Amino acid sequence: MNRGWTERAREIDSFKVMDLLKRAAELDAAGHDVVHMEAGEPDFPTAEPILAAAQKALAAGQTRYTPAGGIPQLREAIAAFYQQRYGVSITPQQVLVTAGASGALLLAFALLAAPGSRFLLADPGYPCNRQFLRLLEARGQLVPVGPETNYQLTPELIEQHWQADTAGVLLASPSNPTGSVVPVGQLADIAATVDRLGGALIVDEIYHGLTYGFDAETVLSVAPNAVVLNSFSKYFGMTGWRLGWLVAEEAAVAEMEKMAQNLFISPATLSQYAALAAFEPQTLQIFEQRRAAFAERRDRLVSGLRELGFGIPLMPEGAFYVYADASHLTDDSYAYCWSLLEEDHVAVTPGADFGCNHPERYIRFSYTTGLDRIELALARLKQRISRG
Ligand SMILES: Cc1ncc(COP(=O)(O)O)c(C=O)c1O
Repeated sequence: MNRGWTERAREIDSFKVMDLLKRAAELDAAGHDVVHMEAGEPDFPTAEPILAAAQKALAAGQTRYTPAGGIPQLREAIAAFYQQRYGVSITPQQVLVTAGASGALLLAFALLAAPGSRFLLADPGYPCNRQFLRLLEARGQLVPVGPETNYQLTPELIEQHWQADTAGVLLASPSNPTGSVVPVGQLADIAATVDRLGGALIVDEIYHGLTYGFDAETVLSVAPNAVVLNSFSKYFGMTGWRLGWLVAEEAAVAEMEKMAQNLFISPATLSQYAALAAFEPQTLQIFEQRRAAFAERRDRLVSGLRELGFGIPLMPEGAFYVYADASHLTDDSYAYCWSLLEEDHVAVTPGADFGCNHPERYIRFSYTTGLDRIELALARLKQRISRG
């Protein structure tokens, strides 16, 4: 029934993993032992020093609005973090604190994507990007990528797909769902190409900190005019606190802050005070221990899946996902994921969430669960495969 609802609302797809999450939770509630590898959030609880900071802020009555761009201390702490982690100097006025990277994506696209314009996006990629663009009456133009380009856009692909109405490019490095990272030299080449074509570059660095065996460099070290998104959700383990940030040139931040004032008034106050503790050395140490645990899980999961015949041509370099080709098992990974959940109680995400580039072949496994659970999931998969 159409009650005057907009085409925009109708055309925005549901985030399919959410339906699966709901069903997996129902199975949990019914007493089944579901292995959860479907969600994009760390299984680790929010680190103790962050909880303590939140409790202190609550006791001090920090429950009112803050400036739309975030409390000055947090903007300063984030700017200092860029110096410390990447050796990149930015000012606190270049930082805008947002409701997760999601809030940052909305503001960045609202600034840069005019109605009718397009943004180039890698396919497979994070599904919400194109929904944000649809909301703004712009479009995501999906560019198929595969192992030959490390599942990322390249200067050549950007050039090849650029059109008169292309407004810019969004990269995610490390990527969701493939975990691939764009090396800094390639980031510089992409930034130069986008600049020459007269567009804007947005880089989603939400999985920074979660790279294994090396540290990712921020695009800001080679392209100071890029818009960078980040979040407290992943490396910092604060998904439910709904806090992230963006970095851009000061004038761009001021423009986005104006929109943030209208849209959100301010980011969540308690979360901001809690997040101040995220940059303390002892908290960072906790994150680094968790990172080592993720690395170990990745290695086990990738080798286990490969033994079961899944196609993983490149080792995922970051995030906490393995995007595995399951075409030896099914030509409909969506149906396969649902039956894997219903029959074997292993919850994973079908490729259908991540674009149009042969999604029916792929399954995303999140290693956001312990090694013992990963072993259990691999054993259940093995059993299922041997059942035929
Ligand atoms: C690539 C990417 N960008 C942005 C987000 C949004 O995260 P949040 O709003 O929790 O910061 C996610 C969440 O999974 C993601 O995977």
